[in-house]
Amino acid sequence: MSIEVSQLTRFFGRAPAVRQLDMSVPGGAVTGLVGPNGAGKTTLLLMLAALLAPDSGTIRVAGLDPVTQAREVHRTVGWMPDAFGTWDSLTCTEILLTFAAAQEMDADTARTRAVEMLTLVHLDELARTPARVLSRGQKQRLGLARALIHSPKVLLLDEPAAGMDPRSRADLRALLRDLASDGTTVLLSSHILPEMEEMVDGVVFMSHGTALPTPSEQGRAEAEGPGGAAHPVPTRRTWRMRALDAGRLSEWVHSAQPSVTHEEDGTVRLPVDDDAAAARLLRKAVEAGVEVVSFAPLRGALEETYLAMEGERR
Ligand SMILES: Nc1ncnc2c1ncn2[C@@H]1O[C@H](COP(=O)(O)OP(=O)(O)OP(=O)(O)O)[C@@H](O)[C@H]1O
Ligand SMILES: [Mg+2]
Repeated sequence: MSIEVSQLTRFFGRAPAVRQLDMSVPGGAVTGLVGPNGAGKTTLLLMLAALLAPDSGTIRVAGLDPVTQAREVHRTVGWMPDAFGTWDSLTCTEILLTFAAAQEMDADTARTRAVEMLTLVHLDELARTPARVLSRGQKQRLGLARALIHSPKVLLLDEPAAGMDPRSRADLRALLRDLASDGTTVLLSSHILPEMEEMVDGVVFMSHGTALPTPSEQGRAEAEGPGGAAHPVPTRRTWRMRALDAGRLSEWVHSAQPSVTHEEDGTVRLPVDDDAAAARLLRKAVEAGVEVVSFAPLRGALEETYLAMEGERR
């Protein structure tokens, strides 16, 4: 149930939004699509969902070609757009039933499934409420319920967590993990990297319409070809240390590590080569009598990798 993309290109006017993109997304896993505004993520997802035609290149979504098998792709894929336009006069249930009918689900199955999906996204109390009354986050959750109504094998989500409250986002993460372990292929774009890092099995970085090999991949890229999803593993990172007594910490850190930044909140930031170096540093601090309260990487691995790649790009 994987997604395979080869040399995919799509222009808007004379500007390529996606260009010669090669990408491989494994089945039964959650894969993140990460890249700056305008990188081409939405354009790519629309082509995968058979909602936008490519200019050239090939796509296979669960073995189907969105260009020649659009109908089959619509049946196989659940699509959640970044902003879900609802018909304002319809209720949440009616909207789901309309989509179920478009998927040619029989009326009884559709009713049962609509109730299940509204319960899943905690909108059951708003089932009979017209969609115009929904808040932004509630609309996002209705969009998720709609994407799932026909139990799709492949789920494409464009910034699904945008506008959702912390509880809903946590629910979303758990749901996507569950779906993937049941065999669903999940590809989602997001700018919220720490959150994404918690739930993805792999990441595809996009920039200027094309997929970039992540730093950890660069070595094997020559052997295997570009575009495979992999978890980025940055090595040298900034770590932050906090201690009960900021003065004592400051005193020690000056003798132990000259390249250090002090923050106004009394923490210090240190460049650390790898986990082993971090462990050594922590032991030294404790041995020197610094009462360390916390010591952790400043940013998640995904964010750190993203910023490093952005830096190189500029
Ligand atoms: N319908 C359209 N008509 C013309 N140009 C478009 C259209 N849709 C997208 N583009 C252009 O294609 C490029 C890629 O846009 P796209 O929406 O795919 O980016 P994105 O990665 O989803 O960005 P964001 O993170 O802001 O959502 C941009 O330069 C954009 O201006
Ligand atoms: Mg977008």
